[in-house]
Amino acid sequence: MTAGQHRGEVALVTGANKGIGKEIARRLAAEGMTVYVGARDEARGRAAERELAGAGGDVRFLPLDVTDDDQVGAAVQRIEGEAGRLDVLVNNAGVVVEWGIPVTGITAEQMRQVYEVNVFGVVAVTNACVPLLRKSDAPRIVNLSSPLGSLHLLTDEGNPIATRGLLPYSSSKAALNAVTVLFANALREDGIRVNAVNPGLVATDLNARSPHRNATRTPDQGAEVPVELALMGADAPTGAFLGDGGPEGGSVHAVVPW
Ligand SMILES: NC(=O)c1ccc[n+]([C@@H]2O[C@H](COP(=O)([O-])OP(=O)(O)OC[C@H]3O[C@@H](n4cnc5c(N)ncnc54)[C@H](OP(=O)(O)O)[C@@H]3O)[C@@H](O)[C@H]2O)c1
Repeated sequence: MTAGQHRGEVALVTGANKGIGKEIARRLAAEGMTVYVGARDEARGRAAERELAGAGGDVRFLPLDVTDDDQVGAAVQRIEGEAGRLDVLVNNAGVVVEWGIPVTGITAEQMRQVYEVNVFGVVAVTNACVPLLRKSDAPRIVNLSSPLGSLHLLTDEGNPIATRGLLPYSSSKAALNAVTVLFANALREDGIRVNAVNPGLVATDLNARSPHRNATRTPDQGAEVPVELALMGADAPTGAFLGDGGPEGGSVHAVVPW
């Protein structure tokens, strides 16, 4: 990759007001991109926009609750009006609601709450963005997944992943993995690269209530592999789950088992 190669490109990161998403936005801005910082809360989104203003590029807060179809439509309309295309979409927004609740105590409403963001939101945002991605020379979509969504690891009795029991979150990320592959297949002919990524086990608000307290990576470290994938050009893979299945996340060249 040559310095300045991505200057002028346009990126959207959902849930970019904090955690891994904010650090992804920071790094893409440092590449000279115009970065839309998607956030569902205006005050938090504006605060991130202010914080990232010095990162380089052109950072713009974009009101975006991924579960709100009207807001998704308005967000994409604004990007179209201002930038005319989209080069990178990072589906980062994600939630967990079930810390401390066993699999047998989960309600359908809790499943819905998590799927609304982690699965349905990704589909809504992706489909709304496809027309703008088609206008890019090297469009790529990066979906923030997790080894907790890996059926291979969930069925490996010796693996700690198999004992976590996070029913809504794990199954939503397994669904997201299937969504990733289906979009990769559907968009291959358009040259749109679609991949899932494991950022590693990162200490953020998402897992602050985890009884395991075993997240050791910083959000900045968690952004490394997603950003590497977001910066790949036409030689990028598509339909892959990358970043290594271990807690350290690893490398963009290491696959996570589906
Ligand atoms: N942390 C880890 O160890 C880890 C590991 C594997 C995968 N991941 C994935 O990485 C992604 C980022 O997680 P994180 O750890 O950085 O979590 P985080 O710090 O809790 O950030 C999550 C972001 O998603 C936003 N969000 C939640 N619901 C939303 C909605 N309806 N519309 C738009 N934005 C919404 C949050 O906004 P608010 O501030 O408004 O709540 C926040 O900006 C998630 O997809 C997560 O599953 C994380």
